[in-house]
Amino acid sequence: MMTTSRILIQWALWFAAFWMIHLPKSGAFSLGAPFQKTLATFKDAVHQVNTNRKEITVEVAQIPEDLPGIRACRSTVDFAQQTTGNLLASQKSFLNATALTDPKLNAICVIARNAQGSIVGTTDCRVGKSEVVVNNVLVRPDQRGQGIGEKMMVGVEELIMPSASTTKLTLNVYTDNKPAVRLYEKCGFAISDPANAAVFGLSKLTGANLQVAMSKTIKR
Ligand SMILES: CC(C)(COP(=O)(O)OP(=O)(O)OC[C@H]1O[C@@H](n2cnc3c(N)ncnc32)[C@H](O)[C@@H]1OP(=O)(O)O)[C@@H](O)C(=O)NCCC(=O)NCCS
Ligand SMILES: *[C@@H]1O[C@H](CO)[C@@H](O)[C@H](O)[C@H]1NC(C)=O
Repeated sequence: MMTTSRILIQWALWFAAFWMIHLPKSGAFSLGAPFQKTLATFKDAVHQVNTNRKEITVEVAQIPEDLPGIRACRSTVDFAQQTTGNLLASQKSFLNATALTDPKLNAICVIARNAQGSIVGTTDCRVGKSEVVVNNVLVRPDQRGQGIGEKMMVGVEELIMPSASTTKLTLNVYTDNKPAVRLYEKCGFAISDPANAAVFGLSKLTGANLQVAMSKTIKR
């Protein structure tokens, strides 16, 4: 009697051990189920972000209607947190979007809006006879790395260039500003001329933060 129950218990233990070893492989009782659910939720979240990205729209700002939104977007840049007295004149005029309110400057602002309609990026363009100068490309710090900067650059080409008398786009960038330099290169901009190529080379050689001109000629 004792022996039989001992054998039964032993068999039961063996069976339980065998079953437990195979547990993770079994779909129905998988210990991994909650973890897989977390992964699925994570994937949904990523998908959600991607969906939102598609809802970014790029348009030409209406002045003065969009000025409050443009200023709100610009107020998120790091230097805006300083007290007004410490800001450079150029920083103050950037924050107040002064250039956009001066008709003599021929400035156009290309803006990116999120799904809620808030302005999350702004780019100033000065439309000249021989070139369109792209200036102040800005994406809200909390919205970077989602392709908004790239969408605005495409927006400049699609919204501004068709009515410009030139096919040439130019801009200036500091060599230390790696995100900006890469963004412009990705959008087809190249160092403008041999003089700027020399400055760029010097910056690489010495590590100095130098300003270089980049340009792009669009196809018509
Ligand atoms: C430069 C700036 C506008 C880029 O905006 P963004 O929306 O984050 O850029 P995107 O997500 O469209 O990125 C497009 C490309 O730019 C480059 N890039 C963007 N952020 C980068 C980073 N942190 N590091 C390196 N490259 C970067 C990449 O090549 C990227 O393409 P990829 O993601 O396929 O590699 C943004 O960083 C910004 O507002 N910076 C502060 C203002 C400024 O310095 N403006 C430029 C003045 S000349
Ligand atoms: C901001 O711009 C407005 C014009 O839209 C101007 O009247 C005002 O003086 C400017 N403010 C500053 C602080 O520059």
